[in-house]
Amino acid sequence: RKPITLHRLRAMHAAGEKIAMLTCYDATFARVLDAAGVDILLVGDSLGMVLQGRPSTLPVSLAEMAYHVECVARGNRSAWVIGDLPFGSYQASAEQALDSAARLMQAGAHMVKLEGGGWTAPLVRQLAERGIPVCAHLGLTPQSVHALGGWRVQGRDDAAAETLRRHAKELAEAGAAMLVLELMPSALAAEITAALDIPVIGIGAGAGCSGQVLVLHDMLGLNAGKPPRFVRDFTREGGSVAAAIERYVAAVRDGSFPDEAQHGY
Ligand code: KIV
Ligand code: NA
Repeated sequence: RKPITLHRLRAMHAAGEKIAMLTCYDATFARVLDAAGVDILLVGDSLGMVLQGRPSTLPVSLAEMAYHVECVARGNRSAWVIGDLPFGSYQASAEQALDSAARLMQAGAHMVKLEGGGWTAPLVRQLAERGIPVCAHLGLTPQSVHALGGWRVQGRDDAAAETLRRHAKELAEAGAAMLVLELMPSALAAEITAALDIPVIGIGAGAGCSGQVLVLHDMLGLNAGKPPRFVRDFTREGGSVAAAIERYVAAVRDGSFPDEAQHGY
């Protein structure tokens, strides 16, 4: 297939064609996911948990993120690659965010992702104006897990929902080219998606987004303990890892994942 571009992803959002994204941290999985038709590979700082065995994403360093972006870029041919800016690599200033983003772009990312709304809008503008595509991330933002009081659904009451709507709009106006919505009521995520002309990718945010993302190890059933409600194990039907990834892409494309009754809030 032809390399996925931002233009193509925006067209998919406009046409209502669902976008399939998964996290990816190494060259082998990058090759497998790319071949299975995954549109976007997210080198997520979730690698702190699933690769490094840490209790949160907070200890992940910029050097570690750059290393994994390089690995993924080597195995990938045509997917769009997003690198997460880790905790502490963009909070201090726009200058720090620019330096950190440049590091991930030089490692092979096509876009960087950063968490939070409000205070992040000027950072997004600075990066976007300098030619660095930015994906924003709202809702349950894992780098703020301690401030949020744990892994809980966001935007449940009217005031919180209104703040999320406002933050999403501000980020899009600041030049964010994509938005991830994590762990929020499906109706709210659908409303935010419909109001924006940029692709909105959901995780635990219902079927009304432009696309879906899951942590690779979760959808391969490798989670220790009980997985969160929004996860589906795509290996349960058997077959190869590649077949499970292909099933995920197909289920996102045809709208059968996520299923509101099973996976929604
Ligand atoms: O790091 C990650 O895996 C993420 C996704 C859950 C969106 O940011
Ligand atoms: Na992340």
